[in-house]
Amino acid sequence: KTRHLVVDPVQPDASLIQQAGAVLREGGLVAFPTETVYGLGANALDARAVAGIYLAKGRPADNPLIVHIESHRVLTRYIDELPPVVSLLAARFWPGPLTMVLRGGRSFPPEVTAGLDTVAFRVPAHPVALALIRAAGVPVAAPSANASGRPSPTTAAHVLDDLSGKIALVLDGGPSGLGVESTVLDLSGDQPVILRPGGAIQRDLEQVLGPVELDPSVNGVAVAGDRPRSPGMKYTHYAPRAPLLLFEGRDHERVAASVLADARRLSAGGTKVGILAYSETAPLYDGQGYSVVVPGKRSEPGTVAALLYESLRRFDQLGVDVILAEGIIPDGLGLAVMNRLRRASGGHVITV
Ligand code: TXA
Ligand code: MG
Repeated sequence: KTRHLVVDPVQPDASLIQQAGAVLREGGLVAFPTETVYGLGANALDARAVAGIYLAKGRPADNPLIVHIESHRVLTRYIDELPPVVSLLAARFWPGPLTMVLRGGRSFPPEVTAGLDTVAFRVPAHPVALALIRAAGVPVAAPSANASGRPSPTTAAHVLDDLSGKIALVLDGGPSGLGVESTVLDLSGDQPVILRPGGAIQRDLEQVLGPVELDPSVNGVAVAGDRPRSPGMKYTHYAPRAPLLLFEGRDHERVAASVLADARRLSAGGTKVGILAYSETAPLYDGQGYSVVVPGKRSEPGTVAALLYESLRRFDQLGVDVILAEGIIPDGLGLAVMNRLRRASGGHVITV
């Protein structure tokens, strides 16, 4: 049975955190809040504990994990030669939603790195996560705490929906704030490359790094069998149970008109239609029997990001047969949102 402990997200109770730290040290799995999404933690130095993460999530073995540490100063323990840019990035973005992929890190078992010669590190900006890492006294390997392929969890309830009975403990610190995962930045090559857009936006990274490339997988769904630099990008992910069709285009009225036309056609054929829409266009779909979920205004990608995964999970409860999703402008946090929606669609993207 999974224990559920409620903790204060700002000043977590020290004795609860000590208990959770002890579970990690003893090889158990602890789900915990971060500022992005909930993570499922294990002692990153314990191969058996880390193997338990893959088992609990049903995660493919070739998808490596992020190692969560309490401060960038810890890096020198694991990486011999740090690129000079790491300390600049750490000063600006850590603690925070940036994951740095670095060459080296033989200290970690292959269960963490999936056998790659790089390791991904992040210092999370959440008091519970930081206190837990400190209490554990070890680096904490943690993917998002969802069953593999499902939308990432932004509340402890989402974690329990997917993993109840499969993990020792969930620390419940309320909803995570950002709602999308960290930006994964590959610093192992000559040029920095964004492997996954996330909470640290491209424009802000470029203030420190100069121009930063996006990995080709960011704007599409890589085909299984390809060897993308970020192994995680080749899987359909973040997906609700019903198939999702994504409608992209800069003119949101045309996007909405196209969604509405398909909704009418599908609904006439007896299909239960779900629509992911934004405040600007949601009224168009009223009163026609569709299940409409609205994660905020299209013009406020931060709000959309915060409510995105919860909205996708909502369609499961509504029991729709298909989801027609409006896109937003892929800029700033909007890029992270669109990356997740493209992945959730498994490539079913309609450009309007
Ligand atoms: O915000 C986040 O990053 C959350 C919280 C819990 O910290 N974690 C998270 O982990 O999203 P996960 O496992 O769901 O996603 C990790 C991503 C995957 O796409 C994985 O392929 C990539 O990071 N990754 C991990 N290690 C890598 C490496 N050595 N090289 C390239 N990509 C790596
Ligand atoms: Mg994940």
